[in-house]
Amino acid sequence: MRVVTITSPGGPEVLRIAERPVPAPRENEVLIRIKAAGINRPDLFQRKGNYPAPKGVPQDIPGLEVAGIIEECGLGTERWRPGDSVCALLGGAGYAEYAVVHEGHCLPLPGNSFTEAAALPETIFTVWHNVFQSGRLKQDENFLIHGGAGGIGSTAIQLARCFGAQVFATAGSDEKCRLCEDLGASRAINYKKEDFEEILREEGIDVILDAIGGDYITKNIRILHPGGRLVFINAVKGGRGEFDVFDIMNRRLVITGSTLRPRDAAFKKSLAEEVEKHVWPLIRSGQFRPEVTATFPLEAASEAHRLMEDNSHVGKIVLLV
Ligand SMILES: NC(=O)c1ccc[n+]([C@@H]2O[C@H](COP(=O)([O-])OP(=O)(O)OC[C@H]3O[C@@H](n4cnc5c(N)ncnc54)[C@H](OP(=O)(O)O)[C@@H]3O)[C@@H](O)[C@H]2O)c1
Repeated sequence: MRVVTITSPGGPEVLRIAERPVPAPRENEVLIRIKAAGINRPDLFQRKGNYPAPKGVPQDIPGLEVAGIIEECGLGTERWRPGDSVCALLGGAGYAEYAVVHEGHCLPLPGNSFTEAAALPETIFTVWHNVFQSGRLKQDENFLIHGGAGGIGSTAIQLARCFGAQVFATAGSDEKCRLCEDLGASRAINYKKEDFEEILREEGIDVILDAIGGDYITKNIRILHPGGRLVFINAVKGGRGEFDVFDIMNRRLVITGSTLRPRDAAFKKSLAEEVEKHVWPLIRSGQFRPEVTATFPLEAASEAHRLMEDNSHVGKIVLLV
């Protein structure tokens, strides 16, 4: 089969097509013939050598989410049959013609589009766990997402709106702010022109999803309501910030975070079940739609990474296989 490999840690040019044997499904696994593979920011970190794949997953093939058709079922699988259309969360190796995955990490295609379905698992699983399970976002609460126009951001805005929260977002251009507001944010803040802390201080926020870190850490804490929750999924501007423990105690704030990729198979399976129960109906009824804005053939994975690295994209980028 054809795959995209990381030939050595580096820029987008290190991604090259190579030939590899089609993997065989082990117990509880299925083999998927991939039609489309979603691109996520962590793939870029893996390409640069900063985000190793978990044990048992090829280190040199990126790709955390795919959609396609089940080709073969391993021993002990119960739910799927060859010919079923699914999307799946992978530990890696999704930029390929085939992938094996635990059957519990597959979900039925929620519509007709493999391209849209490939853009769902990594972002939805991440948003569901961090915003709704850890962040406990509830109806009528105020939610802030930083980087609102990206893959995670466009998903978080729509889901938070679907569940009745008031959404605020930050983004790096007026065009990206418009997209955030079109997706359901009541106010998007262009962080290159305005200070989100100044704008949101009076209103206050209940739950913040942050992948930025750095100076945002202290600012986030200052705008949280009593009982507020701050959830980190990355810290691209740095992981260290300053806050007063007494302030956290007095306002009963919760600071937490997580990384999805290294979590065990049982956790991902239970997350898949929750996502199917709570989010799949929203996709099927058209209340939530993945924001796929660019597609590239598998051979052009370098170009797709360049687009994400430029930060000029909005929503999700998908490879067509
Ligand atoms: N912990 C987990 O389990 C997990 C899982 C998946 C993703 N993530 C993290 O979530 C973040 C978003 O991922 P994604 O796939 O949605 O990426 P993405 O589509 O590239 O979205 C990132 C957004 O953040 C904004 N941003 C603000 N400051 C930035 C900076 N210094 N560098 C890069 N982007 C910046 C970008 O545009 P503007 O700046 O122009 O607004 C962009 O819209 C990434 O940091 C990723 O590592 C974590």
